[in-house]
Amino acid sequence: MCGIVGYVGERPVVDVLLPGLSHLEYRGYDSAGIALNMGSSMDVMKRAGRIAELESLVESEGPFDAISGIGHTRWATHGAPNTVNAHPHVDPSGDVVVVHNGIVENWVELKRKLEEEGHRFVSDTDTEVVAHMIGELADLPLVEAVRQVMNQADGALALAVMRRSEPELIVGARRGSPLVVGRGDNENFLASDIPAFLEHTREMVIIDDERIVEVRPSSVRIIDLEGNEIEPEHRKVEWDFEAAEKGGFPTFMLKEIHEQPHAVLDTLAGRITETGRVVLNELEMDDKLLRAVDKVFVLACGTSYHAAMMAKYAIERWTRLPVEIDIASEFRYRDPVVDARTLVIGISQSGETIDTLEAVRYAKAQGANVIGVSNVVDSALARESDAVLYTRAGLEIGVAATKTFTTQLVVMQLLGLYLAQVRGTLDPGAVELLVRDLMKLPDQIADVLSQSDSIAELTGEWGSVDDYFFLGRSGDFPVAMEGALKLKEIAYVRAEGYAAGEMKHGPIALIEDGVVVIGVATDSHVRAKTLSNMEEMKARGGTIVLVAEEGDDVGEVAEHVIRVPSGPDLLCTVTAVVPLQLLSYHVATARGLDDDKPRNLAKTVTVE
Ligand code: G6P
Repeated sequence: MCGIVGYVGERPVVDVLLPGLSHLEYRGYDSAGIALNMGSSMDVMKRAGRIAELESLVESEGPFDAISGIGHTRWATHGAPNTVNAHPHVDPSGDVVVVHNGIVENWVELKRKLEEEGHRFVSDTDTEVVAHMIGELADLPLVEAVRQVMNQADGALALAVMRRSEPELIVGARRGSPLVVGRGDNENFLASDIPAFLEHTREMVIIDDERIVEVRPSSVRIIDLEGNEIEPEHRKVEWDFEAAEKGGFPTFMLKEIHEQPHAVLDTLAGRITETGRVVLNELEMDDKLLRAVDKVFVLACGTSYHAAMMAKYAIERWTRLPVEIDIASEFRYRDPVVDARTLVIGISQSGETIDTLEAVRYAKAQGANVIGVSNVVDSALARESDAVLYTRAGLEIGVAATKTFTTQLVVMQLLGLYLAQVRGTLDPGAVELLVRDLMKLPDQIADVLSQSDSIAELTGEWGSVDDYFFLGRSGDFPVAMEGALKLKEIAYVRAEGYAAGEMKHGPIALIEDGVVVIGVATDSHVRAKTLSNMEEMKARGGTIVLVAEEGDDVGEVAEHVIRVPSGPDLLCTVTAVVPLQLLSYHVATARGLDDDKPRNLAKTVTVE
């Protein structure tokens, strides 16, 4: 998840690009760069680290008399976050520059072809491959070269491209990742997000998927991938600058909740084949070693621990391997039984949580093989693990984890299926069915998100409620735990996540009139039992809300039923948690709380 900005017009180009990048820094900030087209030459400047680093470089090298320019702030996906991998990337002639947001899924194949033709690459990025491909088409107008390359590249991507010989032109292309044009008076802007140009103009043109745009100082021309002309649709930005940084959402948390369909799609990209198999090429762990494993530990903290809970059910069910899970801060102080045949999976969105890092270090010292699951490329967890799987949720600013959680669930499901393939514990037909259902998740999450207003209406009735229970069994149990944690974190109310069947052994004593009990009942083989447990809560005065699959008969127990699309057990965890995120958000908002920065919490905790 990176930020793109481009400008062509009469202002000093640097004075537009650098502030534009600063406004996009929330999208990623591990490195940044700009390219300036002077007509006679193309100047590229880039730096690892924050935009401030780039600003001092540009200041020391300037001033520049550029006609147009493009800039980029990066959140690394392919290649470490260093200066070489920072964008813009250039073709071998130095005439073509490219910035890119997203992932070119078939970049290895495309790169190999170019290498066979003699191309040499300096970075580890997929973007440099795109620059070389466009450079190869020097005889064609730039827009045509970009169109041809878009037709060869797979995956979600947004591009901004310049060519030295066409200094009054920036070409943009969009598939999946956002791209907008800001319209000015004899000047135009191209950006991944509106904040990049909102201080200059509120007039804009949204670029749809599978479109290429030519941006010149006084014109904007759009074509589709077949080269047909498309009429640009002009719009006016309605919101103020502050809100724009949140993409029009009132808070980052709500924005990130709504980014989940895309985040899950990105996390699945390139990891499943058309024939319904899971491929985790980046795992770099020998199949022989994975077959020799006789026990799995999954270690994590906070929300990530709830992904570990789901992982236990998935890995045990699909591989028949025994799986232990542990809160990372407990693990190493209890003398756990770990040896060279133990596979340890550490889950941490930041990859920096010290409890998780220490637990993983301890396991490694006992001889275990470690897989790290992280959302941050090159994080400490990623570096210290024997192999790493990234969630590709993009930068998460809201302190309460949302899209990083759902993508962790997806990564753990992919890993569970992969282990089942390697160990031969699920037949290919069964894997294929589950993979096909995984692919449905992005659309299914989008369906659930459309219920936000009705969830707000429901929570509106709970203004004075301070006691909540979230209950579930089996795969629904981690969902219930996460629902309770979200509510505690951002609404500061007592919310207990509990195994529904365990309530009768004690906590049921707390149920009385006015307690809200939210039951999650998507797991088919325990649904009837969960519903009975909810009857027990209702009989003691609880206000019952259920999360259930569409079409399931859940009787009369609940005052309100939130429906999620039906799907296989365990996969449903991904959709079932989304209404609970929305529910927490609406409760916190109704109480006038800042859900982005909840009190006493930190996004990343680096103390024990
Ligand atoms: C902090 C955050 C939690 C998060 C936990 C683990 O406590 O406030 O939201 O779940 O750390 O973070 P990690 O980066 O390891 O997933």
